[in-house]
Amino acid sequence: MRELTVLVTASGAPGTAALLRALRENGERTLRLVGTGMSERAIGRHLCDAFHVVPAGSDPGFAEAVLDLCRREGVDAVLPQSSYDLLSLAEARELFDGVAALLVSAPEAIRRSNDKAETYALLDRIGVRGPAWRRVQGGDAVAAAARELGYPERDVCMKPVFSSGSRGFRVLSASADRREQLLSNRPGVAEAMRLEDLVELLGENETELLVMELATGGERTVDGFARGGRILLGHPKTREAMRAGLAMYFRTLDDPALMETAARIVAELELDHFFNIQLVGEHVIEINPRISTIVYQEDLNLPYLGVKHALGEISEEELRALAARVRPGRVALRYFDQVEWDSA
Ligand SMILES: Nc1ncnc2c1ncn2[C@@H]1O[C@H](COP(=O)(O)OP(=O)(O)O)[C@@H](O)[C@H]1O
Ligand SMILES: [Mg+2]
Repeated sequence: MRELTVLVTASGAPGTAALLRALRENGERTLRLVGTGMSERAIGRHLCDAFHVVPAGSDPGFAEAVLDLCRREGVDAVLPQSSYDLLSLAEARELFDGVAALLVSAPEAIRRSNDKAETYALLDRIGVRGPAWRRVQGGDAVAAAARELGYPERDVCMKPVFSSGSRGFRVLSASADRREQLLSNRPGVAEAMRLEDLVELLGENETELLVMELATGGERTVDGFARGGRILLGHPKTREAMRAGLAMYFRTLDDPALMETAARIVAELELDHFFNIQLVGEHVIEINPRISTIVYQEDLNLPYLGVKHALGEISEEELRALAARVRPGRVALRYFDQVEWDSA
């Protein structure tokens, strides 16, 4: 089989080492890896065959920089890891035609997923359960929305309409005790807040916010890849042992109803390539149109299969047949590792 070159963006992201290893250990061919990142300190610089610093995904020069690398490095497929990279790449899709396969959905699907209010409106429309929600700006509107959703009898939560990595997510609870939090909790934990404190903090700030029903229960995701709104391969998994906003433990589930829910969302957005649909309890809370943490199996290498599919090397029928290999009960445990070198 011919050698392949795959460019992985945001190669400082937490899942990078496992993703690169899986792509390399595909059991079929030599695979050359090109990593990009915003800093020389991305682990991709050490684990890829070539590494390049590029502008942030939100920078107007990002897609051009990736395109230029595709030409210079002879890249066959581009696999974006960060939510911030998706829109600029998708909007530049035509420029990549004939250069490299770009594993992203259409710009419209990405816009609708990045806008969490739009996502919740979409869930309501297609009858998939999401949290009750209000889109607001400023402290007073947050207070009114929180009361409508049952505060102070019920805890609610809020997050920015546009965000990622749990930035800005807060539980609003009338029983939150700041002194108790100060004295007994570890730093870095996003503490629950009382509404009064939040209202004071926000003032007339214009950031668009979502005030939401607080979903409760275990976190799960459905991960896989799609073509034209049809899931080709994927499975649900748990998302456990949170540490600094990242899950560290995952267990593959057998849950046809959850796959059916995911299928409706994927169809509505006409998603292509990798997706990750996130739930808290029975509520869908986020749609990520990109690759996320993968539970690898020696006989099922989702990232590699997704790349092969993007390159037209494997048919939809062949992929669907592979679904039988998904092993419920398969577990992934993440941990920290490190590399050393002598700085000049
Ligand atoms: N309505 C909700 N109810 C309960 N928890 C929520 C809700 N929305 C978000 N969260 C929590 O906040 C985290 C971040 O929210 P999410 O929508 O996934 O945004 P992002 O991952 O882009 O920061 C989730 O992993 C979940 O733990
Ligand atoms: Mg999320």
